[in-house]
Amino acid sequence: IRIDSPSNMTFKEGQEFKVRIRPQDSCSSFAINIGHDSENVAMHFNARFDCQGDTNTIVFNSLSGGSWGDELREGNFPFVRGEECKFHINFNNEQFYIKLPDGSMLNFPNRLGDVKYQYFDVSGEARIVGIKIK
Ligand code: GAL
Repeated sequence: IRIDSPSNMTFKEGQEFKVRIRPQDSCSSFAINIGHDSENVAMHFNARFDCQGDTNTIVFNSLSGGSWGDELREGNFPFVRGEECKFHINFNNEQFYIKLPDGSMLNFPNRLGDVKYQYFDVSGEARIVGIKIK
């Protein structure tokens, strides 16, 4: 499934993006994408329960002009299928800062370098429970 958020939302440097997601009971992976459009994604956050040879691994990447950059992987995996999980994300022109449901923080370089993004989606076997930008 793919859920596109309303196009009138803008995520700017210094703001906080909160999203609550519930991975399905059979979820193999879900992703949070933030960027300009489906071909230009500054932050692709992909939680892989069991997907493409990865088990309980977070894979980050960026997509520029439809081409993937270098993946970054994280070992911490505080997600449970069927249980709602909450993310707090903020960014500046250099980094994204992601607070995971267990309170731990990750960062990922803002390779597109912009300070305003209007494209968001959550893909994979999960649904958005709530989404807010403040
Ligand atoms: C690919 C996968 C994409 C994305 C990308 C990240 O293998 O098909 O959905 O996760 O890795 O580098």
